[in-house]
Amino acid sequence: MPILVTGAAGFIGSHVCHHLLSRGEAVVGIDNMNDYYDLALKKGRLARLQPHKDFSFHQ
Ligand SMILES: NC(=O)c1ccc[n+]([C@@H]2O[C@H](COP(=O)([O-])OP(=O)(O)OC[C@H]3O[C@@H](n4cnc5c(N)ncnc54)[C@H](O)[C@@H]3O)[C@@H](O)[C@H]2O)c1
Repeated sequence: MPILVTGAAGFIGSHVCHHLLSRGEAVVGIDNMNDYYDLALKKGRLARLQPHKDFSFHQ
C-alpha cells in the first residue's frame, strides 16, 4: 500500500519521501508547485526523487 506524502517537493516533504523510500515503502507524492519561493528548488528535489521506481508524483 503506497504512502501519500503532501508537499512532496517541499523541504520537509521531500526528505520524508526519501526516508520512506529508503525503508522500502512505495510513495505517492503530491504538490501544487506554488511559487512562494524559487521553483527551481522544488524541481531539483523532485528530480532527485523521480528516478526511484517506487516514487510517483502528481501535481
Ligand atoms: N522547515 C521547517 O523547519 C519547519 C518547522 C516546523 C514546521 N514546519 C511546517 O512544515 C510544513 C512544511 O514545511 P517546509 O519547510 O517543507 O515548507 P515548503 O514550502 O518547502 O514545502 C511545502 C510544500 O507544500 C506545497 N503546497 C503548499 N500548498 C499546497 C497545496 N494546497 N496542495 C499541494 N501542495 C501544496 C508547496 O508547493 C511546497 O512544495 C509547513 O506547514 C511548515 O510551516 C516547517
